[in-house]
Amino acid sequence: MYSWLRTPLFLLNPELAHELAMKSLAASLSSNATWEATREMLFLGAPTQPELGAHVFGLDFPNRVGLAAGFDKNAEYLKPLAALGFGFIEIGTVTGLPQPGNPRPRLFRLPKDEALLNRMGFNNDGAESVARRLDETLSRWDGPRPILGINIGKTKVVPLDEAASDYVLSLRHLHSFADYLVVNVSSPNTPGLRELQEKEPLSRLLGEIQEENHSQSSKLGVPPKPLLLKIAPDLERGALEDIVEVASDCQLAGLIATNTTISRDDLKTDTSKLGSGGVSGRPLVQRSREVVRELRGMTALPIIGVGGIFKPEDSLAMFDAGADLCQVWTGFIYEGPRMVKRLVQAGSVRLYTGD
Ligand SMILES: Cc1cc2nc3c(=O)[nH]c(=O)nc-3n(C[C@H](O)[C@H](O)[C@H](O)COP(=O)(O)O)c2cc1C
Repeated sequence: MYSWLRTPLFLLNPELAHELAMKSLAASLSSNATWEATREMLFLGAPTQPELGAHVFGLDFPNRVGLAAGFDKNAEYLKPLAALGFGFIEIGTVTGLPQPGNPRPRLFRLPKDEALLNRMGFNNDGAESVARRLDETLSRWDGPRPILGINIGKTKVVPLDEAASDYVLSLRHLHSFADYLVVNVSSPNTPGLRELQEKEPLSRLLGEIQEENHSQSSKLGVPPKPLLLKIAPDLERGALEDIVEVASDCQLAGLIATNTTISRDDLKTDTSKLGSGGVSGRPLVQRSREVVRELRGMTALPIIGVGGIFKPEDSLAMFDAGADLCQVWTGFIYEGPRMVKRLVQAGSVRLYTGD
């Protein structure tokens, strides 16, 4: 069904296609009649039985299928994305200062691999603007809303040894809007960022961010927001062990595994002329699941599994590997918006049969 829409969209430049698709979806919500027509045409909307929900790191998720970071970096499309049935939406990565990201082209489809290659470089409006937009959107929200995650990263021009101050700046602006917060140290597209995954710098960084989280929360008179760390798929077992230890020392609420991979192994597409970037989608599915399985063997902390989830069997395999929740990004581009409903429904079958 989605193929008739996907064919023309795939003829467009991928970044343009993304913007066009999201603007069209947002426009369809402008009246009940247009939304009903779109919903029926695309079979959108996920089931909402309470049995589908999950209580994870102190939050009540309406279902276990979320939208991964990078899809709605600036929180421009929360309403239409919520209407698709996601149980949670993670906006960002937002940085302390606004920045344009890398020059275009910076996003490529690899259809033979059902993958994407991107070097977006955290293009975003900056924490202050995103906070303003969230304030507007959330103050006018009526009805149930998905859980909102806010993913923060480092502004490119801020030196690596001052990274903590940039994350803290984002937190000052965005903290009050978040149901949960994510520290992103795993994007391959900000020079040096992934060095922050090493034990000592990670421990210092998370310590400072957690301190700000506690201070902002006490000002609001609420418990500290659940703070999660998003990690790369290209880490060896020793590095994962270090991360689990730091996560526990810094009282993180959970881990997100994984971001895109720098590996080009086993791709059918020749990417040698496309330049640098992280690969997402099908080629990532085994590795992300493996990382989740390894982490689950090391810790009882909640894990959000992300990477290469296209079909219900992929999300179920991610849960079987030990994930509590899952997220999608590239699968959404290849499978279409109805994918959300399929994944949520599969979760419900699993719940109802008690498998
Ligand atoms: C175009 C693009 C932009 C992304 N931007 C971000 C980002 O800003 N922050 C982040 O944490 N992850 C980002 N990601 C990574 C995704 O959130 C996800 O971890 C990764 O793509 C693996 O999931 P997938 O195989 O379902 O796409 C991005 C992915 C893509 C394809």
